[in-house]
This record gives sequence, structure tokens and C-alpha cells, in this order.
Amino acid sequence: MEKKIGVLTSGGDSPGMNAAIRAVTRSAIFKGFKVVGILRGYNGLLNKEFVDLDVRTVSDIIQRGGTAIYTARCPEFKEWENVEKAKKICEEQQMCGVVTIGGDGTFRGAADLSRAGIPCIGIPGTIDNDIQCSEYTIGYDTAMNTVVEMIDKLRDTSHSHERCAVVEVMGRHAGHIALATGLACGATAVLVPEMPHDIDSIISRIKEVRSMGKKQFIIVVAEGVGGTQEIAEQIEKATGIESRATILGHVQRGGSPTVRDRVMASEMGYYAVELLEKGIGNRVVGYKDGKIYDVDIQEALSMKKPFNERRYKICDEINF
Ligand code: ADP
Ligand code: F6P
Repeated sequence: MEKKIGVLTSGGDSPGMNAAIRAVTRSAIFKGFKVVGILRGYNGLLNKEFVDLDVRTVSDIIQRGGTAIYTARCPEFKEWENVEKAKKICEEQQMCGVVTIGGDGTFRGAADLSRAGIPCIGIPGTIDNDIQCSEYTIGYDTAMNTVVEMIDKLRDTSHSHERCAVVEVMGRHAGHIALATGLACGATAVLVPEMPHDIDSIISRIKEVRSMGKKQFIIVVAEGVGGTQEIAEQIEKATGIESRATILGHVQRGGSPTVRDRVMASEMGYYAVELLEKGIGNRVVGYKDGKIYDVDIQEALSMKKPFNERRYKICDEINF
């Protein structure tokens, strides 16, 4: 019976997923496996949408954002009967394991499929960096660099017009992108779901730094806080400073992955195949204390990632 490994991408896509797919494919082939690309996440598994991946199929994708095997959401996979259906399909396809690249939701699906008897290994692929068991998720660095590039452009025009730019960034319910990019761009204030905030303190802050001679103001708002347009209107009304809201949206999900994302994705993909080669499943690959490691999926899903309050304090004290 030939040895086959499946690989799928699921949930929100992120730059670097292709690098992970490439590493899984190349390392598996090197170890004597055949590789099946499962299109559109768990949907593709249930609908038997497969593509053979060989060394050449994954050429010329390491530098490309997005995922060459598509991604999709599949609520049906939350029903056990569909998990069992997927297990039977994996057996028909002679898949001895599946690498699932995505976020928490994807890992829940991987845990179910592992429980049904098909070893799965999760790789953290999301720009949000909100996977509790890993200090880093594939796509985070690229997304942050995109945000900083966009905010630097907004800073130019805000300076010319002596305006305030209120910028909303992605992150779903987490403020990691907002905090890191807010610090990197010298934002006057950063609003994140993890910390209390109110419009009056933002307005006071703007008035304070304006009295110190500041001519342009950047306010970074995590999408989990929201209300970006209203915040801009309230600032303008209270301070007389022309204020403009910008919601960066899905530009944060595209772009050629940075070196960090390409390297992290390649090493995590290689590590995932090593686990499957040993017959190990129901694990998530993560990054902790400078090393790539693996942890039981259920344990991973129960972990809590502390918010970087020291970074938040630094941002508050040096950005004015
Ligand atoms: P992410 O993986 O980025 O968190 P989602 O939350 O959309 O994205 O989950 C991606 C996919 O994982 C879902 O479309 C579904 O197919 C599967 N999934 C999510 N939650 C579960 C669950 N509790 N049990 C089984 N499968 C799940
Ligand atoms: O999880 C990644 C992410 O980009 C979040 O930051 C954002 O809230 C969400 O996906 C958007 O989802 P969709 O692409 O389905 O609109």
C-alpha cells in the first residue's frame, strides 16, 4: 500500500501558507510519501477534491501569498457524521495522515479527524497571531509589514494636512497586529480589545501631544474594538483636527511572504511531516522560546496567550 499524506488549508488564508504546503510536499516526497493536496479545506475532503502534489507542482509558490490549494470554511465538519465520512475518504485515498494549516477552528477539525483514526498535524496559519500555543503564526510578520507600509503612507498625507488618521487593522478578536504596528508607526494611541479604552482619554492624549507641537496623529484601532469611523468623527468634533478613518481590510491578507514567514512555514511544514512519519497525530506544531515544538491539540486549544502589556506600556510612554 503506498504511503500518502494529505495537506489542506482552512479558515482565513495567510501569506506563507504556500511555503508551508511546499515544505510539506517536498519533505514528504523525500521521505517516500506521495502527497495529495486537498482543495478548499475540509469541504474538499468531503467532496473528494484532490490534486496530486509533486516536486514540480509546488515550484514557484514559496514567494506567493495566499494558498495554491484554496481555503474555505466548512461548518458541516462540526458534525461527527461528516468527520466519519472524511475518515472513510482518507482511507479510500490511502492517506496515512493529514497536515491541516489554519487557525483554532481548523485544529478542532484536525482533533476530530485524529479521533476518528486519521492522524492530523496542525500548523498555525493566520495573520492574527492569536493561536494560544504558539508565539508565532504564519502570516503575522507579512501582515504587519503590510500594515506599517500602509500607515507610513497615511502618515505622509496626515502630515501635509495636519490631520488625524484613524486606522483599523485586522486581528479578529486579538490586538497583536494593532499593538505591534502601533508601536512601529509611532501611533499616538492604540485601541485593542485586551485593554480598556475610552474616547475621552484618546482626545485628551491628542490635545496633550498637539500642545507639544505634534502636527499629525495616528490612531490604530484593532477590528475587535471597531467603531473607527465614529472615533474619527468624535476626535474631529472635540479637537477641531480634521480626522479621516481608514479600514485596511483584506490587503493585510495578501502579499509576498517575508523571510520570517517563509522560513517559519518551511520549518513547521518539515516538522509536521516528521511527526506523521513517526505515526504521530493529534498534535499542533508551534513556536515557543525560539524553538519549533508540538503539543496535543486539545491541550493547545485550552492554552491562554498573555497580552503583551509591557509593549502596550512602552507604546503609551514613547509615542507622543
Ligand atoms: P480558523 O481555522 O482560522 O480558526 P475557522 O474558525 O473558520 O477558521 O475554522 C476553519 C474550519 O475548521 C471550519 O470551516 C470548519 O470546517 C472547521 N472547524 C471549525 N470549528 C470546528 C469544530 N468545533 N469542530 C470541527 N471542525 C471545526
Ligand atoms: O483570521 C484572519 C482574518 O483576517 C481576521 O483578522 C479577520 O477578522 C477575518 O480573517 C476576516 O475573515 P474573512 O476573510 O472571512 O472576511
